[in-house]
Amino acid sequence: GWSMSSFVDSVIPALREQIGDAQVVCGLSGGIDSTVVAALLHQAIGKRLHCIFVDNGLLRKNEAQEVIGFLREHFDLNLIHVQAQDLFLNRLQGVSDPEEKRKIIGHTFIEVFDKEAKAIPGVSFLAQGTLYPDVIESESFKGPSAVIKSHHNVGGLPEKMNLALVEPLRELFKDEVRKVAQQLGMPDSIVWRHPFPGPGLAIRIIGEITKERLDVLKEADAIVTSELKATNWYYKVWQGFAVLLPLKTVGVMGDERTYESVIALRIVDSVDAMTADWSRIPSEVLARISNRIINEVKGVNRVVLDISSKPPSTIEWE
Ligand code: XMP
Repeated sequence: GWSMSSFVDSVIPALREQIGDAQVVCGLSGGIDSTVVAALLHQAIGKRLHCIFVDNGLLRKNEAQEVIGFLREHFDLNLIHVQAQDLFLNRLQGVSDPEEKRKIIGHTFIEVFDKEAKAIPGVSFLAQGTLYPDVIESESFKGPSAVIKSHHNVGGLPEKMNLALVEPLRELFKDEVRKVAQQLGMPDSIVWRHPFPGPGLAIRIIGEITKERLDVLKEADAIVTSELKATNWYYKVWQGFAVLLPLKTVGVMGDERTYESVIALRIVDSVDAMTADWSRIPSEVLARISNRIINEVKGVNRVVLDISSKPPSTIEWE
């Protein structure tokens, strides 16, 4: 197979050339793209890179620790970890409209990030993990997916902050970014991490978001991930996750009637997320996921499987 070593060899000098002796700020999301950007920039400019990780409380279980842990262990980075969970949760209180959630999360992120970035003296560049498909999608912003759901990871930040952009992954596809990550020695848990939406678990909790519902979803989602990994299905599917529905149904536990929440499983195959089909996961794997969620996650007594393709459904439920 081919490698991305020539990409790494040429991008480092190109970054040095573009940046000169300026300071760069970079938002870490927990995903592979921004982690690769941070690693490349660190190689190129060292301590003149300032990473900001905004914990919005809407991340998957252990996500913040895994990514920050890896970066801290392998790179001597300037890394600001902003604990903004309460702020996000407060602003989302009582909100159930999906686009409203996206807007609130997008604006709050920009506000928090901007404040942190302004506190760093002399920053003149913003580094982003924009990929080639993001570039095409935002250049033809009439595209159906852009209209259906406002993706906030492209645009917004730079205009507001008056910074020049550094986008070293602009010409790469996702599979190429994964190769670069491997080249850089990143662990499988980062290289093969499933894509995750900017608004995070907020758009996988249908209806209102509360701390309790977030905790339920995080636990259920962690079981989906761990069972998919244990059976290697994690690495064959595009995305696999849990969705918390805004309804309760009746169940029975021992002699007791229960009245608790429903978790939907969304596991899909795709190459670029523009189209997708539900993954044909063996029933034994699904059975284990379902049993574990119902037995281990308090407040859930039913698990259902989403068997819709995109289109006409979307991958996410909101
Ligand atoms: P949909 O649900 O539109 O998702 O089929 C396609 C891909 O995009 C991700 N997604 C988002 N990513 N902000 C993001 O950064 C968003 O608001 C957003 N909505 C969906 C989704 O996880 C899938 O990979």
